[in-house]
Amino acid sequence: MKPQKITCVVGARPNFMKVAPVYLALRRRGFDVRLVHTGQHYDAKMSQIFFDDLGMPRPDAFLGVGSGSHAEQTAKILTLFEHDCLAFQPELVLVAGDVNSTIACALVASKLGAAVGHIEAGLRSRDWGMPEEVNRVLTDHASDLLLTPSPDGDDNLRAEGIAEWRIRFVGNCMIDSLRTHLERALQLQPWLELGLAAKGYAVATLHRPSNVDEPGQLAKLVAGLGAVSTQLPVLLPIHPRTQKRMDDAGLAVPQGVKLVEPMGYLQFLGIMAQAKLVVTDSGGIQEETTALGVPCLTLRANTERPITMSEGTNTLLGIDPAKLGPAVAEILATGGKAGRIPDKWDGKAAERIADLVQSGFGTLLEASAA
Ligand code: UD1
Repeated sequence: MKPQKITCVVGARPNFMKVAPVYLALRRRGFDVRLVHTGQHYDAKMSQIFFDDLGMPRPDAFLGVGSGSHAEQTAKILTLFEHDCLAFQPELVLVAGDVNSTIACALVASKLGAAVGHIEAGLRSRDWGMPEEVNRVLTDHASDLLLTPSPDGDDNLRAEGIAEWRIRFVGNCMIDSLRTHLERALQLQPWLELGLAAKGYAVATLHRPSNVDEPGQLAKLVAGLGAVSTQLPVLLPIHPRTQKRMDDAGLAVPQGVKLVEPMGYLQFLGIMAQAKLVVTDSGGIQEETTALGVPCLTLRANTERPITMSEGTNTLLGIDPAKLGPAVAEILATGGKAGRIPDKWDGKAAERIADLVQSGFGTLLEASAA
């Protein structure tokens, strides 16, 4: 069975650049594709600007779930997405990544009997304290088609007993977006309007609850960025969660750290591409810096994206921000890790997914389930 009616789900900022190329590829091939935005992220700078930058149309449905506890947010998505599926009756639902919208929509679709495809399947941090890890594991097990960005994902899924026929190594859809938009992002020269020189600054992004929710850790992080800013200017586009925690703790950024609002896709892509180095606790940015060949220091105890360390430009620094200053000094002295581009991070992952859908992977599912 080749599915004719497909729903693509987006909810939070890191979903947009993964789903856009897949959605657009399926539309080009004439499928009846519906775009549903759960509204997990809703600020213009966390959502609308990405639609504009990525050339995405307005979503067919905006569920408007907004913020809340994990249970509240997930429960709202479950209820509202079920209504949407009952009305549209998709044969295939595509979800991406590891946010609350991902698991909620995968669960709804699988209970309604639609086939579920998970874009960015198989990643594992093995840190069950991370909400995203719970979302990843549960989404993979609720999905029929597991579309992995790197071979470690395939290995993780096999180790969990997932049947081989459900696993497809398609490559990294987020890097499709990066390749499509990089030239335009560079032409905008966004570093100039911020008074920065190409390859003369660091960019930092921090939003993970384990780093920013505890005031003591957040204060150490801010001090760590201060140590970096004595070596080169630091740009800190701030996530709403982090801004709120800084305000609550009465923390200000040190001199030399330039605090700006969250950036759009093109602006941030240009900024990353011309940075000397990046400091982050994000998942996606570890991959984008590898694709761009920019050294990345990751302030986390673990990563679900080990290929960015083994092949790319990423260094896992751990959670002690005191390590930042010396690590940056080393990059400035040596140039940092050069890395190489992992297999199938070639801008064609979405086309591979569209090929799979078009070739009627449903037949494959039915045959294998029999
Ligand atoms: C979510 C994802 C995380 C992802 C991150 C990217 C989950 C469990 N977490 O975390 O994996 O890395 O998105 O940004 O799904 N807020 C706003 N405006 C918005 C969105 C959020 O002000 O448009 C504020 C609200 O105060 C909200 C807080 O940010 O309570 C957290 O938002 P939420 O979606 O719950 O989680 P994130 O931390 O963004």
